[in-house]
Amino acid sequence: MPYTVQGVIARGKGEPVSLETIHVPDPGPGEAVVNVQACGVCHTDLHYREGGINDDFPFLLGHEAAGVVEAVGEGVTDVAPGDYVILNWRAVCGDCRACRRGRPWYCFNTHNATQKMTLEDGTPLSPALGIGAFAEKTLVAAGQCTKVNPAAPATVAGLLGCGVMAGIGAAINTGGVTRGDSVAVIGCGGVGDAAIHGSWLAGASKIIAVDVDDRKLAWAKEFGATHTINSRTSDAVEAIKELTGGNGADVVIEAVGRPETYKQAFYARDLAGTVVLVGVPTPEMTLELPLLDVFGRGGSLKSSWYGDCLPSRDFPMLIDLYLQGRLDLERFVSETIGLGDIEEAFTKMHAGEVLRSVVVL
Ligand SMILES: NC(=O)c1ccc[n+]([C@@H]2O[C@H](COP(=O)([O-])OP(=O)(O)OC[C@H]3O[C@@H](n4cnc5c(N)ncnc54)[C@H](O)[C@@H]3O)[C@@H](O)[C@H]2O)c1
Ligand SMILES: [Zn+2]
Ligand SMILES: [Zn+2]
Repeated sequence: MPYTVQGVIARGKGEPVSLETIHVPDPGPGEAVVNVQACGVCHTDLHYREGGINDDFPFLLGHEAAGVVEAVGEGVTDVAPGDYVILNWRAVCGDCRACRRGRPWYCFNTHNATQKMTLEDGTPLSPALGIGAFAEKTLVAAGQCTKVNPAAPATVAGLLGCGVMAGIGAAINTGGVTRGDSVAVIGCGGVGDAAIHGSWLAGASKIIAVDVDDRKLAWAKEFGATHTINSRTSDAVEAIKELTGGNGADVVIEAVGRPETYKQAFYARDLAGTVVLVGVPTPEMTLELPLLDVFGRGGSLKSSWYGDCLPSRDFPMLIDLYLQGRLDLERFVSETIGLGDIEEAFTKMHAGEVLRSVVVL
């Protein structure tokens, strides 16, 4: 019996989202249906609604979730009904050129459900990042379910499904932040603060938070920032250099996704340092840099897709750190809301009033 549930749909570019009845098919071979318990609101959901990712409307939004497996399809052995899982958007294939070279965190052929969830009239839905978890139930590939310790509540566990993992991973996995590094993070939303917290976990000695909003900077300190810069009132590059002996930071993480902040990251980095772009730009954005500066400053310019995470390795490890009190996931949760409150949550995100609004089902 397919399931009939409520889900949050973005029907067209810039149109407010609506709560609608959707059909979730029974899981087919390799698929699982999950009872979503909590799902965070990520900036990427807003990018989808604004047509900034692609034009495959209607979208079923939500992709930062945890819940319990309801049913699995034929051939599924890794998870079973009743398992507590975080949903991931990197179900590695094991067979693509990245996987075969032992770099599954780059997997180029990640798995999603084969069947489509639909609107009541049969219109197929595009689930955000292959998940679609602003819904009571969702259909995913079984590999998108990562089992973790059920002692961690879904409101915080779900955050590892996207933004917090992306931020921590941008620092630790992509940026290779380690003991004694100086780090600057530009943009202190959920992703940027997670990069700050990850840098703190890894033992960075100086962590400089940059944002245009003083409230965000105050929160960044709570996650481990040692210095803060409001780039509306001071020059971010100059200020970062001043705080690092005139040199720039070893690792600069861009968590906004705009050319001007990327340029700040590029010039606020020490020679041979690393720039990590974890913010997601939109299609019309372009970047111009003197090629001589790209060469002359050395080091590496990296992008971080999902914090270069490997869900099966990183989710259980980070949940353990949370349960030991070493990773503060609760601090990311600004409010818990219902499925009908997503538009309001987008407005609050835009106004900088929240780090994460988390839908609880
Ligand atoms: N790479 C990935 O895998 C991945 C995963 C999740 C999210 N993201 C992206 O990361 C970005 C951040 O996501 P979020 O959920 O933290 O969003 P958010 O809206 O919560 O945070 C963005 C922050 O950037 C600040 N900001 C805006 N303009 C700025 C400027 N010019 N200078 C400095 N700060 C500025 C805002 O004040 C805000 O604090 C988004 O682009 C999102 O799509 C990427
Ligand atoms: Zn692969
Ligand atoms: Zn996200």
